[in-house]
Amino acid sequence: MTHSEWWRDAVIYQIYPRSFADSDGDGYGDLPGAISKLPYLKELGVDAVWLSPFYLSPMADAGYDVADYREVDPLFGKTSDATRLVEEAHALGLKVFIDLVPNHTSDRHVWFQAAVVAEPGSPEREMYLIRDGKGEGGELPPNNWKSLFGGPGWSRLKRPDGTPEQWYLHLFDVHQPDLDWESEAVRAGFDDILRHWLDLGVDGFRVDVAHSLVKEAGLPDEAEQSEFLEGDLGPRWDQDGVHDVYRRWRKVLDEYDGDRAMVAEAWVPNPERLAMYVRPDEMHQAFNFDFLSSTWDAARYRKVIKQTMAANEAVGAPTTWVLSNHDVVRHASRLGREETNNTAGISARDPQPDNVLGLRRAKAATLLMLALPGSAYLYQGEELGLPEHTAVPDELRQDPIWEGTKHQEVGRDGCRIPLPWVADAPGLGFGPSGKTWLPQPDSYAQLAVDQQMGDPTSTWTMYQTALKLRRQYALGAGSMTWEVAPEHVLAFDNGQVRVLVNVGGPAIPLPEGKVLLASTEVAGELPTDAAVWLLKPTD
Ligand code: NOJ
Repeated sequence: MTHSEWWRDAVIYQIYPRSFADSDGDGYGDLPGAISKLPYLKELGVDAVWLSPFYLSPMADAGYDVADYREVDPLFGKTSDATRLVEEAHALGLKVFIDLVPNHTSDRHVWFQAAVVAEPGSPEREMYLIRDGKGEGGELPPNNWKSLFGGPGWSRLKRPDGTPEQWYLHLFDVHQPDLDWESEAVRAGFDDILRHWLDLGVDGFRVDVAHSLVKEAGLPDEAEQSEFLEGDLGPRWDQDGVHDVYRRWRKVLDEYDGDRAMVAEAWVPNPERLAMYVRPDEMHQAFNFDFLSSTWDAARYRKVIKQTMAANEAVGAPTTWVLSNHDVVRHASRLGREETNNTAGISARDPQPDNVLGLRRAKAATLLMLALPGSAYLYQGEELGLPEHTAVPDELRQDPIWEGTKHQEVGRDGCRIPLPWVADAPGLGFGPSGKTWLPQPDSYAQLAVDQQMGDPTSTWTMYQTALKLRRQYALGAGSMTWEVAPEHVLAFDNGQVRVLVNVGGPAIPLPEGKVLLASTEVAGELPTDAAVWLLKPTD
């Protein structure tokens, strides 16, 4: 891909490094493993990759707790492997996004270590949200905010002799202290981190919890009742001040050639608030989580698609579609169960998804997504139709959510299982030793890459064909026109291609046109839970 503003219609594949491919046999995926699979991704037909964090980290949150933003953690290889990955990807014509984690650092980062030993009010402490406690002796936390991983959002610092003192905020794990983005030292520090990686040639950044960096002044208590539906997420999310940060970063990116870009991970209440992150002087893309969160419901999809496209068009930005990532139940399982909390994970004790139904719907949802104008993100393994692993033994769970919620939620391990590459190899070919940091379910063997590549009926081949056709008919750069159809059918034209998705209703007769691709067998009609791309007849 060489055209400018390549990100507008790119298909970007998320590599979750620890579960993608292991080169050294320790059971964890690594950068050399990822490098060895770049030709695989080229063959699949994606334009770019995004890698979840591979930086130096004590791994309290699988690397989203960064101790050094410039170094590669030994678990993932050498620091030079990151440069090699960028070079080898570029040689294949693939762009590379890396993950930027600016809301918090690890508690092992030098900035936090310095803050801990410094005095209250010192410049070191001002880099973090460190505050006096309430109550006579400061024994109560500064406000009522909770951690997203369960438990209180504040922890108390202690002097070496054990005397308790100020409190620090952590929206996530206790080992992930929140930075204070009012601090110029923090802002300047991140400018340098951006430049470091841009100098090394990365094409851009996925920005972690992009809606949380700036908190409401004074850190007021959160209302008991979330005002989410009113479009206000409360004092710690989606504050207007956060946009200054992205304007500043945009200027840094624009100093570089090659259309470097940023994508926001921002869970905000409505498409209009989301579109603010992709105004012309801010980021380039923002994940459309309303689309990901939609249940299998035609009216809901129609509404989300219309609203997000309108909101983004108003600011001149493309829409960025996504169905799965490392934080939510995989869509091949999600769409096979009742609506429920999809970041909480699924355990063997929960009602089980219908994975046959789920995969059928997931394939249709994927063909819907890849036919829409804009950019799309794929999560590793979805091209294999992998289901969520719902029977990870409790004693093997790794996600901090499991302990943080005192075992109320199993967390996200089930969507982070090491990939199956070879059906009859130890560890399904994940690495040379057969070890895997999380166990793989039996069902993954028949879904392994070697079982699916070259099989014209496989999920993998559907993805490959869809990506080829998407490029051939320039669907990502196209524009859509809705067609008249029964309520349960999404029907639209994108250039020469007519797209129909039957969302849970009775079969409908296929309109005229050559079938380019379908999510299941179609013979004269489009059955329930299926999608088809037709070449429109020329008049
Ligand atoms: C969002 C990331 O995707 C998730 O994996 C992580 O736990 C939190 N942000 C905290 O960094």
